[in-house]
Order: sequence, then C-alpha cells, then structure tokens
Amino acid sequence: MKTFDDRRKEADQIIEGFLREEKGYDRTLIEAMNYSIRAGGKRLRPVLLQSFGRMYGADEKRLHPFMAAIEMIHTYSLVHDDLPAMDNDMLRRGKPTTHARFGEAMAILAGDALLNEAFTIMSDETKRTLFAEDGPLLDECFGEVYATSFISKYAGVDGMAGGQSLDVETDKLGRDVTGEEIHYIYLNKTSALLEASMLAGAVLGGSGVGKDISLIASAGKDIGFAFQIRDDILDIEGDESIIGKETGQDKRNGKSTFVSIHGIEESEAFIRDYTEEAKTHISNLENVKDEEERIFVLDLFDALTERNH
Ligand code: IPE
Ligand code: IPE
Ligand code: MG
Ligand code: MG
Ligand code: MG
Repeated sequence: MKTFDDRRKEADQIIEGFLREEKGYDRTLIEAMNYSIRAGGKRLRPVLLQSFGRMYGADEKRLHPFMAAIEMIHTYSLVHDDLPAMDNDMLRRGKPTTHARFGEAMAILAGDALLNEAFTIMSDETKRTLFAEDGPLLDECFGEVYATSFISKYAGVDGMAGGQSLDVETDKLGRDVTGEEIHYIYLNKTSALLEASMLAGAVLGGSGVGKDISLIASAGKDIGFAFQIRDDILDIEGDESIIGKETGQDKRNGKSTFVSIHGIEESEAFIRDYTEEAKTHISNLENVKDEEERIFVLDLFDALTERNH
C-alpha cells in the first residue's frame, strides 16, 4: 500500500494537470493562483478525497477533478486567511505569502479566482459525465452532483467561511472565547473542508455509501478538531522551517485558541481523544469496499496526531 508521501506526490501531479497556462492579460492573476498552489502543502484534503473514493469503489478518474477543486478551495482559504485584514502573515508553505509576493489586490483576486476555478472544474466534470458520448449517465452523475453540493456547502456560510467569520470577530473581543464559540469556529473553519473531502470522495463511489455518510461526517468533525488543536500547538512550539509558517502568530494577533485556554498538556489529551473518536467512526463504517483504504485512513489519522507540520 502506498504511503501518505507517495499519495501526496500523486495528488501534486493530478492538481498540476488542472492549472492554467500563464499567458494573456490576466497572466499575473494566473501566476498568483499557480504560485499559491505550487508552494506545496500536505495535500491532505485531496488525499482524503481520493482515499474515500477508493474506499467506496469510485472510478479513479472521476476523483481527479474533485481532488484539484478541493485543494484550490483550501488554498484560496489560506491566501485570504494570510491577508493583512485577517491574520497578516508573511510566510506560508515555506514561501512568502501570496499578498507578500503579488500585493494585496492580486492576492484577493487569486483567492476569488481559485474558488471559482474549483467550481468550474466540478461543474465541467458533472456536465462531462452527464453528456458522455457513450450514452446518458444520469445515475452515474449523481455522485458528481452530491460531491459538488457537499463541497460548496462546507466551503461557505455553513462551513469554512462561517468559521472564519467568528474567528476574526472574536479576535477583537478582548476576552477568551467560550467553549461553544471555539467549537463553532473549529468545526467550521477547519473540520468542514476535511469533512467535505471525505464525503465527496465517498459519494463519488456511487450509491453504495448509504448510512455510512453520517459516520464519515462525524469522523471528519472529530479529525478536523484534532487537526486544528495541533495547528495551534505548532504555532506555539513548532519549527518555522518545518511548518513553513511564522510561529507565535496567534499570540501576536491576540487570538484565543483551544490551547491558550486549556494549556498544551490538556490539549494533547484532547487531540488523542478526538482522534480515537474519529477512528471509531471509520472502524464502524459498514459498506466499505476496499479494506486497505480503511486501514490507510486509520493510520493517517494516527500519524496526524503527531505531525510536526
Ligand atoms: C492549514 O491547513 C490551515 C488549517 C486548517 C489549520 P494545512 O495544515 O492542511 O495546510 P497545508 O495545505 O499543509 O499548507
Ligand atoms: C485556519 O486557521 C483556517 C482556515 C480556514 C484558513 P489558522 O489561521 O490557524 O491557519 P494557519 O495557522 O494560518 O494555517
Ligand atoms: Mg486564521
Ligand atoms: Mg492563519
Ligand atoms: Mg494556525
């Protein structure tokens, strides 16, 4: 079975195939988009999408456009998250942030364009499946429709954008966030896109997912929560040259996080608990077609608890 690193490299190649050529009057915009994507990153969301697709027997090629799309949406969220109006960060994925390199206006546009590029890719793929030359495939295109619907919902008000909104608002409150607020923020700003990746992959496998959907959603919520707590810890004690971001930014921005409230030791225990919950949901999935993929995901969740970037 391929390692996470092999899969990350494969995801890189797949995503590369969906990038535009840097030419024309909007060349700088395309350069800024490609720069943000090519800067690297763990490619966790496309790898998860692909693994859940495989787990439910999806045709590999149908996963590729959605892998590229989810990484474009995630990357746009980072480009905007780094802007001076938000977290004001100058380093991302080991390189100057998009606004540091291209200016604020172009970074805003690159984010906008990446988001829309993702939707163009997903809807083109839906059309392609629906009007395939070898006959109408209405049933088969349901996977694409559901995947697009999960991804759009979880990127927006009911997900990442919603979570980011309370995250920036609470920065300015001058008090610690409440437990309920932190839950809302983490489940939306971070879990939502991970959940969307897993759900989109699974529905692209066809109609065999059934009741597993709600277990996958719960696993996405739990692993996302653990992932964000680890991100907050890495902001405090991570190695800048490994995480590729400036450390100490949360404190500088006056952000109260799960870790600033609970302390590192308790937070580590929460990471372990949330990860165990996520793994239990994955172990309880009933309709998995490829057991090796289930094992890959369980191992990946374990590895994420101890990630150093
Ligand atoms: C960073 O996400 C933002 C969070 C949700 C914590 P990642 O840690 O997945 O960033 P990349 O894609 O590897 O750069
Ligand atoms: C990020 O939270 C969430 C996004 C949705 C972009 P952070 O602001 O903590 O992410 P990093 O640390 O900048 O990657
Ligand atoms: Mg932020
Ligand atoms: Mg940030
Ligand atoms: Mg962070």
